[in-house]
Amino acid sequence: MEVVRARVLGFCFGVRRAIEAVERATRSGPLETLGPVVHNRQVVDALAAKGARAAASLQELSGGRLALPSHGVAPETLARVQGQVEVIDATCPFVRRAQQAARRLAAGGFAVVVFGDVAHPEVHGLLGWAGGNACATLDWCEAARYAEGRRRVGVIAQTTQNIGAFRGFIQRLVDARLDGLLELRVINTVCDATSERQQAALELAGKVDAVVVVGGRHSSNTRRLAEICAGTTGVPTHLVESAQELDAGWFAGMRRVGLTAGASTPDEVIAEVERRLKEMS
Ligand code: F3S
Repeated sequence: MEVVRARVLGFCFGVRRAIEAVERATRSGPLETLGPVVHNRQVVDALAAKGARAAASLQELSGGRLALPSHGVAPETLARVQGQVEVIDATCPFVRRAQQAARRLAAGGFAVVVFGDVAHPEVHGLLGWAGGNACATLDWCEAARYAEGRRRVGVIAQTTQNIGAFRGFIQRLVDARLDGLLELRVINTVCDATSERQQAALELAGKVDAVVVVGGRHSSNTRRLAEICAGTTGVPTHLVESAQELDAGWFAGMRRVGLTAGASTPDEVIAEVERRLKEMS
């Protein structure tokens, strides 16, 4: 069985930058992170071993030094920690760009729609940056209801969303609501690393018998890769967090298996999955 890697996979610039910032900070003593710095268990465990403990909430913080996650926080959270603790800001610059877009739209009088998963911490942060006048949804009907009766609507996306799904969402929203609007402003805040990995996963899925996606189950961009492979091409797709989860039965009789990985998946975890897959040949 041949194992074919996606053209682009694994760590993105923002994740690498966040991990390096936290690792650097641990050299001068222990610190806490507000939730996981990135959504990957192996990375969080490795950072904890170096002295960066993940606190589940602001209430759990013991004071001292605090690293903000790569997916950012709401301005209210920032205001509560600044001046109380030493803050190491590991927010990805692309998330920062989306936050600034949300703030700019709200300041310009736009009702803000965030195309994203309302339960994801990045989206929670974006809603905060947009002030009270915002809604987050993946459902264009909900966005259309929210836009009804408003004059100016601005739309942004969670940085790790599916770019094709964002395009479809905008098209449906335009069809449903443009007539009643004075202005509809769309800012594409899906990050380049996400788009590149999605495009590469799609190309890969078209030329293999099955795809293995490696990454955290809580990682938004990892889940998007699995959805794109399974949903767009219909190829059997398996999301695993580690090599131990692989099942040889999934690949019986197959000749080519594709391998891709989320932007927060470490190289060594990808390599271990690749090695196990080759052993299954
Ligand atoms: Fe940043 Fe995009 Fe990675 S938002 S953390 S570069 S997936």
